[in-house]
Amino acid sequence: MATQLPTTDIRIGADLIRRRKGGTPIVCLTAYTYPIARLLDPHVDLLLVGDSVAMVLHGHETTLGASLEMMIAHGQAVMRGSAKACVVVDMPAGTYEDSASQAVASARRIVGETGCQAVKLEGGVDMAAQIAAIVAAGIPVMGHIGLQPQSVEKDGGYKIKGRTDENVAALIADALAVEKAGAFSLVIEGTIETVAADITGRIAIPTIGIGASSECDGQILVIDDMVGLTVDRVPKFVKQYADLRSVIAHAAERYASEVRDREFPGRAHVFSKTNGGDEA
Ligand code: KIV
Repeated sequence: MATQLPTTDIRIGADLIRRRKGGTPIVCLTAYTYPIARLLDPHVDLLLVGDSVAMVLHGHETTLGASLEMMIAHGQAVMRGSAKACVVVDMPAGTYEDSASQAVASARRIVGETGCQAVKLEGGVDMAAQIAAIVAAGIPVMGHIGLQPQSVEKDGGYKIKGRTDENVAALIADALAVEKAGAFSLVIEGTIETVAADITGRIAIPTIGIGASSECDGQILVIDDMVGLTVDRVPKFVKQYADLRSVIAHAAERYASEVRDREFPGRAHVFSKTNGGDEA
């Protein structure tokens, strides 16, 4: 049974994040589950239920494995586990690209079924109509340009953006289009520092960097990468602040050995007629 979080009327909204442009850097992390949301909520401004959940928790090869139902289930868990953070849920590939009306219907389902504060979608100039329509429907949108994980198959891998003049011009056009469409913030992933700085200086909404340098107005990392839980590829730009893989592997090794030696369960974990009450 889930413990109730303390009720609070200070949940951070998208508008507050937008007004943090140029101020103290905005702290963001991904979260996919109730316990992790509870642990992170006191420390962050924004929790993103990223479609990276398809890879990180469900073992898919790319984020294309995410579905609307998957995002909604994880969004609900993160909302239950947080009281303060602005919760943003990713729109998975295939649920918004076709038309503005498809995008609005999917965004309405995500917000209606999770109660999250905003949605995020990937794309710039090409997705401006979708962003404008979702915003017009009253749902705040976070943009995402640069390296777009939903396009890695098309792009031939996880490639840094902004190395050529043509590519820089395209990134700037994307950022301006997302801002003009009414997004409240913009994730910039996998680009060089000078480009991130240039974009951050040109737009009035906060930029949230991932592999895009401290020139951005905020930072985001995938939680499993940050705490050293990711078992597959970890991007070069990640700083690992803990090594939970080793902690878990070591605990599992000790447990296995104690079970095999009949050391666990010991006296403290056993019920007898004389010991303990009815509570497990
Ligand atoms: O899905 C995700 O986790 C993301 C972040 C990497 C920004 O989009």
